[in-house]
Amino acid sequence: MSTRVLITGALGQLGLALAQVLSSGMDLLLTDLEPGDSGVAPCDITSWEQVKEAVRSFKPQYIVNSAAMTDVDGNEREPERARLVNTVGVEHLLAAGAEAGARLVQVSTDYVFDGTAGPYLESDKPAPLSVYGRTKLEAERLVLEGDAHLVIRANVLFGPDIESRASFVHWVVNSLEEGKQIRVVDDQINNPTLTTNLAEAIRKALEQGAGGLYHYGGLEFASRYDFALKIAQHFNLPVEGIATITTKELDQLAPRPLKGGLICSKMKMELNVTNSNISEGLSQAFPVS
Ligand SMILES: NC(=O)c1ccc[n+]([C@@H]2O[C@H](COP(=O)([O-])OP(=O)(O)OC[C@H]3O[C@@H](n4cnc5c(N)ncnc54)[C@H](OP(=O)(O)O)[C@@H]3O)[C@@H](O)[C@H]2O)c1
Repeated sequence: MSTRVLITGALGQLGLALAQVLSSGMDLLLTDLEPGDSGVAPCDITSWEQVKEAVRSFKPQYIVNSAAMTDVDGNEREPERARLVNTVGVEHLLAAGAEAGARLVQVSTDYVFDGTAGPYLESDKPAPLSVYGRTKLEAERLVLEGDAHLVIRANVLFGPDIESRASFVHWVVNSLEEGKQIRVVDDQINNPTLTTNLAEAIRKALEQGAGGLYHYGGLEFASRYDFALKIAQHFNLPVEGIATITTKELDQLAPRPLKGGLICSKMKMELNVTNSNISEGLSQAFPVS
């Protein structure tokens, strides 16, 4: 019998990759907040009734939570909503999962760190700077109270779904195609991660029954500016359209970790996952015809 997996946030950047990567040999229930006529089932994780109903009727063995309020500045503007989605929603999934005997895979973020000393290991002490980071950390702690559950921290996701609202690739490509000049921070460092690679890593974790806390990220550490340059080069767009700016000058509502990123040697060693550098990831997501 195939493994039954309920995916939340299935129409988001990562959710789309999960739906594709987990589809072979697994029985999936794809859910999202406002799925419209996409064929995905509606399930708002802030609603206990909706979560309970989805879990009771589908009886998953795993729930992969890819739903979150990911607009980092939006979290700062609406902290109550942020906590409701990023923390209370996870409580609902845990409670409904417990009734059904399902294990939860919670996707978290390097924004649980303050960015003074990255890249980070699983053993490093979190110190979130923002509402987003705090609400995601609170959720992690709830999930890790049960040893059967899994938290995978990720950072700067990109994938083939270029139309996604949350896509940095989309913003860079669209702006440059329209001839706009963009300014990109050169003092925030991460390891950008192809959503398909993360979804494959999650699949391996499910197959091996992994539990606890793992970091996953791309092979290459780069500033946002360097990432934007690689995107422009890949799409054959003018790199002259990209200028640098500092995080201080940009003055976003939510403070950002500067030296961020995640070291994923534990996940590579224990679960035999692989990762790719930025150019390989871009070529896989957007093959040059
Ligand atoms: N994007 C990154 O760079 C990044 C980095 C590190 C970690 N992560 C984590 O990775 C996970 C996936 O992120 P992503 O980039 O795929 O985010 P995304 O593209 O913003 O997708 C999140 C999905 O969750 C949905 N959602 C929002 N509120 C919901 C609710 N109350 N109930 C059910 N679904 C809801 C969203 O719907 P709407 O679009 O309608 O709101 C969206 O489809 C998240 O846990 C995020 O914290 C992301």
